[in-house]
Amino acid sequence: MPPRERKLPITKPFFDRDEFRRVLEPLRSGWLVQGPQVAEFERLVATFCGARHGVATTSCTTALHLALLAAGVRPDTEVLVPSFTYIATANAVEYCGAKPIFCDIDLATFNLDPREVEAKLTARTAAVIPVHLFGLSADMDRIVEVCRAAGVAMVEDCACSLGGYWSERHTGRFGLAGCFSFHPRKCITTGEGGMIITDDAAVAKRLRQLRDHGASRSDLARHEGGGGTLLPDFDALGYNYRMSDIQGALGVAQMGKLTRILAERRTLAARYDDLLSPLPWLTTPYLPEGALHSYQSYVCLVRAEELGGMERANIFRNRVMARLEERGVACRQGTHAVHTLGYYRTKYGIAENALPRALAAERLSVALPLFVGLRKADQQRVATELAAARNEVLRQMDAPPSEEPRAQPDPKRQAA
Ligand SMILES: Cc1ncc(COP(=O)(O)O)c(C=O)c1O
Repeated sequence: MPPRERKLPITKPFFDRDEFRRVLEPLRSGWLVQGPQVAEFERLVATFCGARHGVATTSCTTALHLALLAAGVRPDTEVLVPSFTYIATANAVEYCGAKPIFCDIDLATFNLDPREVEAKLTARTAAVIPVHLFGLSADMDRIVEVCRAAGVAMVEDCACSLGGYWSERHTGRFGLAGCFSFHPRKCITTGEGGMIITDDAAVAKRLRQLRDHGASRSDLARHEGGGGTLLPDFDALGYNYRMSDIQGALGVAQMGKLTRILAERRTLAARYDDLLSPLPWLTTPYLPEGALHSYQSYVCLVRAEELGGMERANIFRNRVMARLEERGVACRQGTHAVHTLGYYRTKYGIAENALPRALAAERLSVALPLFVGLRKADQQRVATELAAARNEVLRQMDAPPSEEPRAQPDPKRQAA
């Protein structure tokens, strides 16, 4: 029997000796939470992005929650979010007691359509959250312009976009704050983890306080300031969104290889672009002029018009993905049209097709394996499997329906 081909995961983290060595440091020092490793990780991320301040949190979700609070999002206000995003973007708005207003996307980029922002701004809008999905920046020229004209705060969801730029400016640096994720599906990971970048010292101070139960001074500052017998005042209702130093240490090691990781991901993406170009039914990721993609995910779109409309193309997409999985190639739908998910569907009752491009992205997107260490031969295999899956699935879908099985004679009657 020929050897079974290895399973290709959708992603996997890239660690070497540096992570194994670094992660032991907090265990040796005994400083486990929000200590020197977290401080160093914050410095490295802020510097990489060109921001003045980095504030680590437990996740991008908690980062978004704090950034929205700092932006003045309160109950009875509204926040504009793209519908096609991970649910956490909208959830963070709900945590503030505010209402997410779902906007449609540009299907070419999968990102927030600036015309939707313009159309849906009201006197109640407290903030806009552009999401730089899959590592590609949203159209920040137009979104910044609209937000400025309306005097509305912008908090960027950069969960996927460390290493993603718009006009040579790092994502997360266009508004009040940018929020990053270090979940294992991201380019670098700390297990769970998040970070807020901002240039505003007062905002950074507020964020540091809110992530630490509202404490006016962190434990590290107290200890470094000499002694630490007296506890600080708590003059805000804060949260425990502190990152551990074990995660911080992982983050420091990961930042040491970020440039290499990003370069490799871009090379892999370019190779997919070439390999998949002969497939007319699949659109590969679009790169607008002036944007630098980080390819947190490599997400394609099945072309509905090549497959006889959206419904049929959705069935086709699902079957192609199932067949790839069976053949050992992991793939995923890109993400959700959040307005169609149970919680939001029930709460706001927005019709599925009210945001048709977000719906199409949910139904027709396909993310392919992308990680450091993916080989040329692996990528060739993905392309070959996709082409074979297309032929087989279309054969099944176009086959005439099989005849109804004939009714079996009832054995009891026969006996009678
Ligand atoms: C666009 C987007 N926003 C927010 C999040 C939430 O990030 P975290 O898991 O770090 O809370 C994710 C996670 O995948 C995401 O993709």
